[in-house]
Amino acid sequence: MATDYIVKDINLAAFGRKELDIAETEMPGLMALRAEYGDSKPLAGARIVGSLHMTIQTAVLIETLVALGADVRWASCNIFSTQDHAAAAIAAGGTPVFAIKGQTLEEHWDYLDRSFMFPEGANLILDDGGDATLYVLLGARVEAGETDLIETPTSEEEVAVFAQIKKRMAASPGWFTKTREAIQGVSEETTTGVHRLYELHKNGQLPFPAINVNDSVTKSKFDNKYGCKESLVDGIRRATDTMMAGKVAVVCGYGDVGKGSAASLSGAGARVKVTEIDPICALQAAMDGFEVVTLEDAVATADIFITTTGNKDIIRIEHMREMKDMAIVGNIGHFDNEIQIASLKNHKWTNIKEQVDMIEMPSGNRIILLSEGRLLNLGNATGHPSFVMSASFTNQVLAQIELWTRGDEYNNEVYILPKHLDEKVARLHLERIGVKLSSLSKEQADYIGVTVEGPFKPEHYRY
Ligand code: NAI
Repeated sequence: MATDYIVKDINLAAFGRKELDIAETEMPGLMALRAEYGDSKPLAGARIVGSLHMTIQTAVLIETLVALGADVRWASCNIFSTQDHAAAAIAAGGTPVFAIKGQTLEEHWDYLDRSFMFPEGANLILDDGGDATLYVLLGARVEAGETDLIETPTSEEEVAVFAQIKKRMAASPGWFTKTREAIQGVSEETTTGVHRLYELHKNGQLPFPAINVNDSVTKSKFDNKYGCKESLVDGIRRATDTMMAGKVAVVCGYGDVGKGSAASLSGAGARVKVTEIDPICALQAAMDGFEVVTLEDAVATADIFITTTGNKDIIRIEHMREMKDMAIVGNIGHFDNEIQIASLKNHKWTNIKEQVDMIEMPSGNRIILLSEGRLLNLGNATGHPSFVMSASFTNQVLAQIELWTRGDEYNNEVYILPKHLDEKVARLHLERIGVKLSSLSKEQADYIGVTVEGPFKPEHYRY
């Protein structure tokens, strides 16, 4: 097909290619996999549906999967995160991609549907947040007779996905069931998607093996933490140009993303407060030097509010009513339900620029809302830098190879890549930043009960 893609402007491809060339120099893990597996092509025959932010870094991931022999079709997992020049470069290179920055929710599900349309059908999913997996599994349950599942949508999101499922069922009866049977596995990028996979498994509804990429140490302890450390403040600055130093910022949640976010804001000079529900994370925040408060206590005096919990209803309408005039509100967790955006719909919205809105509260105070509550580091900026995404995506490629070449050895459960591969991913990133690793002597290795080559830590070690 001549135009088997939907991008904003294919003429952006040359710009995208130049940024891709730069990104490759910062993504040593992915480039090492190309060198290691480019000839043997372990992904030959794999037809991978990707549902992950269509950024420059993701473009390097896509081209790595292709270099290893895969056929790939791609959609973004978020309506605001696409970098249109990256999408254009991928489309111009011949890989079907369906992603536009600022696409609607209806388009989001339509584009995801299109990314499944390999002539011979998809056989692997690479997911971020679980929408691609959800689409197939929910559709298959409806086809099996559970029609009530899509009868009463409770959010705009559900209206859109249910409508798309109905459309596909009408166009190709039995498609979801056939696709579910053909899928040989999924690798999942993020905390929220991983949470969905464990729920599916618990309920006996996981029909293929899943690899939890998020919980590779070289993913969540790097991307979620150091990635957000760089990209959170980047997003706030590009959106608002506000002075960070001296401002009071509240970070809701002190998991991996919260730790990176609090570090990002405090590194910029903001005075950071943290909210938590977990005593361990609350204690960590306090001992990292942050005041741990409740949102209720901090809401009237803070200038910037960031949710990082992966949970819902964190910043509610009653909180936003209490905020100072021109308080900045944003979310860096996967879904927009961390902030009660729906409850603001009947307020006066003034669009300032793309992904920045000013909303007037009944008191006359205004709040600045970033990316309509969707992850602001990708909506208002360009997400994490290439180097940290290289570590995440090297895990993704290893997971895809594992599912494709040895999927038969896995049950329909959720797995984490073995520690030796986690260490391999880290190792591939050392040289680029001039790290010199020490080596164990045989005697030392014996003394601490490991081998000279590693793995160097027991499974229960937490880093
Ligand atoms: P995590 O589970 O490590 O951290 C979440 C923290 O929020 C936990 O410590 C939890 O106790 C806390 N929490 C839950 N409910 C809370 C409440 N009501 N009030 C205060 N704290 C609460 O998860 P992680 O890895 O930090 O991910 C968080 C979210 O960010 C997920 O949705 C994940 O998918 C997403 N994510 C976003 C990235 C981005 O670039 N924007 C990158 C990586 C992950």
